Amino acid sequence: MTNRSGRDLAEIRADFPILAEEHHDGVPLVFLDSAASSQKPQAVIGAIADYYRHTHANVHRGIHKLSEAATAAFEDARRKVRRFINAESRREIIFTRNTTESINLVAQSWGRSQLKPGDVVISTVLEHHSNIVPWQILAEEIGFTLRFLPVREQGQLDLAEYERILREERVRLVTVAHVSNVLGTVNPIAAMAEKAHDSGALILVDGAQSVPHMPVDVRALDVDFYAFSGHKMLGPTGVGVLYGKRDLLQAMPPWMGGGDMISHVSLDGSSWNELPYKFEAGTPAIAPVIGLGAAVQYLQELGMEWVHAYEQQLTAYALERLSEVPQLELFGPSAAKEKGGVAAFRLADHHPHDVAQLLDAQGIAVRAGHHCAQPLHHHLGVPSTTRASFYIYNTEEEIDALVAGLYETLRILG
Ligand code: ALA
Repeated sequence: MTNRSGRDLAEIRADFPILAEEHHDGVPLVFLDSAASSQKPQAVIGAIADYYRHTHANVHRGIHKLSEAATAAFEDARRKVRRFINAESRREIIFTRNTTESINLVAQSWGRSQLKPGDVVISTVLEHHSNIVPWQILAEEIGFTLRFLPVREQGQLDLAEYERILREERVRLVTVAHVSNVLGTVNPIAAMAEKAHDSGALILVDGAQSVPHMPVDVRALDVDFYAFSGHKMLGPTGVGVLYGKRDLLQAMPPWMGGGDMISHVSLDGSSWNELPYKFEAGTPAIAPVIGLGAAVQYLQELGMEWVHAYEQQLTAYALERLSEVPQLELFGPSAAKEKGGVAAFRLADHHPHDVAQLLDAQGIAVRAGHHCAQPLHHHLGVPSTTRASFYIYNTEEEIDALVAGLYETLRILG
């Protein structure tokens, strides 16, 4: 399968200036940490530089030419994001700082105004801390109950338990990752959304590890809220997105107060601006939003079907090669078709920090630690793992380098 742009992998890699740099003197970079943050193509770097060079002014405020140009570029990025996830209206696209802020927005606006003592929110054991902690903070305050779906043998959620809780308890919200950042498990979001709705609950999806890697259609999934970050999908840091169904967002109170989110302010009280501005208080991250628009365009030019297919091919190769390494235990689904482009593992009983450090010395960048998923690691019975993660610019040769690096690590650590 070729990508829509018809360009080969060498041409795609050449779009990412950092990939041509040496990691250490004479040692090329093998970047296998895109699940933490992806690298940026020249199209994104250039869009940000051009904006600052030629177009910078504040948005939605001035009537001078520069402010109008900045506003047009900013709102054009919103339209690109709308099309990318197939939202119905650009008013359903709220710019935040990141996935974490998007989830906190739902907790503090919808959650704080809707949840009552005795209500239930379902989350899962495989969540990133950003989809656990905001709900714990709010549950403590309001007194609703937080339930966590268990994870089965190969990292799949226990859907029988899901249906039981939905049937027997007063569930108001289900909040779940689309793809686990450690196991790579792809959760059945459309089916989970249907079941949540049948029980009168809403569903919020953490899409930080899915939107960059696979086609996502929020209307086909029929989700109520969907959160993701720009920096994991070739865009800059400092910008994230919250998608929400328009009628829900319309009924929700603002979370942060300030400039741009009001329609009128008097000393006796204020009224709110229309969507999406009601949830975008203060000067937004203008340059990062414009950079995100360029990232979306870049991904669309490749085609998300190709992005997904290529990553599955790489992941299948990585799982096969890693399974050859002695004393290496892989976590999560064993079939690439059932997982995102991540491989979390333990190498004998060596500390993942030591493993990552020895790989780093060989030019290979991976992440080690609990990956902001301590409850999941507790469930796996290990304090931490080493994680390699893949994106459109990685190659099978880089996976070979990882495997060779692991053999060398075993040789050094014994
Ligand atoms: N959530 C990011 C990761 O999984 C930072 O690495």
